[in-house]
Amino acid sequence: MSRLPPIAPARLPALLAAAPKAELHIHIEGSLEPEMIFALARRNGVALPFDSVQVLRRAYAFSDLQSFLDIYYAGASVLRHEQDFYDMARAYLARAAMDNVVHAEIFFDPQTHTTRGVALETVVRGLHRACVDARAELGISATLIMSFLRHLSEEDAFATLEQAMPLLGRIVGVGLDSSELGHPPEKFARVFARCRQLGLHVVAHAGEEGPPAYIWGALDVLKAERIDHGVQAVHDAALMQRLAAERIPLTVCPLSNQKLRVFPDLSKHNLKQLLDAGLVATVNSDDPAYFGGYINDNFNQTFAALPALTAQDAWQLASNSFEASFATAADKRAWQGQLDECFERHATGA
Ligand code: ADE
Ligand code: ZN
Repeated sequence: MSRLPPIAPARLPALLAAAPKAELHIHIEGSLEPEMIFALARRNGVALPFDSVQVLRRAYAFSDLQSFLDIYYAGASVLRHEQDFYDMARAYLARAAMDNVVHAEIFFDPQTHTTRGVALETVVRGLHRACVDARAELGISATLIMSFLRHLSEEDAFATLEQAMPLLGRIVGVGLDSSELGHPPEKFARVFARCRQLGLHVVAHAGEEGPPAYIWGALDVLKAERIDHGVQAVHDAALMQRLAAERIPLTVCPLSNQKLRVFPDLSKHNLKQLLDAGLVATVNSDDPAYFGGYINDNFNQTFAALPALTAQDAWQLASNSFEASFATAADKRAWQGQLDECFERHATGA
């Protein structure tokens, strides 16, 4: 929509909730709610170093990315069987559909599971079946992105790719996540080149805690099509210009950034600055069970904390999420049409 109809600020929360949107940055292991962690631990006979759901929730006070990752990997240890992966993904997709997510591109961390002796096929079969069922039962579209752990070696990533070869038909792309500092994108140059040869989409976490140089590396060396987080780009004017000119999307996760102290407070988040610089920014939940909210919580709390964000920004963020997705052109057009209709409805008060 080139010209947005006037929308009263009081209508913005309802509009943010109702707008169709894509979620492009969600780690499925980060959607494991404490209740499900305990239920799966019981089901699988896994001992947890926490006495109760309440004690576990109280441990969710993080000082940085690593302090979160330690507890996140411990939580994922309850996942053993195909049905566990299915139940986790199905629960996330049902919750996402309630937030009017029409399309989700879901990260999973294969090495978190294969190092515990769970076969990659078990992981992918469970997650993929949940995506198929969710489309049939909830009308939500969902695809999978296999994310290499950057604190492990490139050799380990190659071994994981080898195991994934028979499963590539169920994976749309690869990503790079885990501890960023000290593990620059260049470490994974060869395995990403191989993934691109195989026709996989490539994305990478960069500029969450790491410097702008890691974003340059993700673009120039890995040829990342999207940057996950990327909020540190604002410290490099030339990088900002490049991201805007090449329309490289950033999958921004405001509540995650607040919880992991990337910003002292949501009111200091740079989302408005990214949008005003013409970047293709999107809003996402990252690890919603750990960071206090799903995608609509991210939209609502960020718009409440940053009064400079407008209805036009809301439309732009949702529109960007479709543009930035790896969906077909026809799907993107259909979702964009639903978005415009939703804004028109709210403008007229219908
Ligand atoms: N894995 C899960 N969440 C992550 C994040 N925010 N950054 C890096 N790796 C992650
Ligand atoms: Zn992430």
